[in-house]
Amino acid sequence: MTKTALITGASSGFGLLTCVTLARRGWRVLATMRDLNRRTKLEDAARAAGVLERLEFLPLDVTSAEQIAAIADLVAKRESPLHALVNNAGFAAPGFAEDVTDAELREQFETNFFGAAAMTRAFLPQMRRQGFGHVVMVSSISGRLGFPGVGSYAAAKFALEGWTESLRYEMKTVGIQVAIVEPGAFETDIWTRNAKVAGKLLDPNSPNAGRVEKWRARVQGDRPKADPQVVAECIARVVEAPRPKLRHVVGTDAKMGLAMQALLPRGLFEKLILKNTGMD
Ligand SMILES: NC(=O)c1ccc[n+]([C@@H]2O[C@H](COP(=O)([O-])OP(=O)(O)OC[C@H]3O[C@@H](n4cnc5c(N)ncnc54)[C@H](OP(=O)(O)O)[C@@H]3O)[C@@H](O)[C@H]2O)c1
Repeated sequence: MTKTALITGASSGFGLLTCVTLARRGWRVLATMRDLNRRTKLEDAARAAGVLERLEFLPLDVTSAEQIAAIADLVAKRESPLHALVNNAGFAAPGFAEDVTDAELREQFETNFFGAAAMTRAFLPQMRRQGFGHVVMVSSISGRLGFPGVGSYAAAKFALEGWTESLRYEMKTVGIQVAIVEPGAFETDIWTRNAKVAGKLLDPNSPNAGRVEKWRARVQGDRPKADPQVVAECIARVVEAPRPKLRHVVGTDAKMGLAMQALLPRGLFEKLILKNTGMD
């Protein structure tokens, strides 16, 4: 039987690549995006790979309860089961913690945490009825380590990790597999087109104004980031594994960061992070 996956945030980055990767592996893919006008890039990539007919494009903003309910209803009414839900949609909200407003912090949580949680809850009834299904959360190394300047993003990813870890236990006995993918830094639109910089980060009166340029140069810098295709392949392996493990770290930087945290004395680890983020 052809397997079906639903992917959120399919218009760019990991979401787009995961759609094409799964389609190439024979999956039928429900490629969801908040603005269907932005589907051209995915269409072109899928056409070039010869898999366009395996994709279906559907509108979905993960912050819209109405759209989530509508898409869950649409998929449930179909005869074919849903084998995998990939909660990928997300954005980054750079800003020092003391500068970020409540509204900005909540906005980050609305998409990166509540959006993924609501999507999952919307599809669990169908997966329970089926007696199978994979739920994959695209988290981040920032769901394990809190780096300076990205506290809002780390907070939402830490929340997502905790929620997902609990969910995994709760779904274990009903046959639903729950897993987390934790990429390091990869070349996507996340820090460019999709970054929603905190208003006060660029405010010359912010107490952090003097640190921003050095922080930005170190964190964003000119260093080329890694090829995001490896993340798409990791997600594909996870949804195809009968019983995937909980956490899947992707990228040398993410693996190094976690290893250093485990091995180094905390004081030394923090000094390294401060130096690498221009906060020393
Ligand atoms: N790239 C990295 O270095 C990195 C590292 C770790 C984790 N991640 C995570 O990977 C995931 C994908 O990000 P990416 O790196 O591929 O960035 P990206 O290229 O900016 O893609 C993000 C996708 O999410 C969509 N999106 C944002 N808000 C949405 C909403 N409310 N509803 C539906 N879709 C929404 C965007 O849609 P539009 O096209 O309409 O903007 C876009 O398709 C995110 O969860 C991110 O936190 C990325």
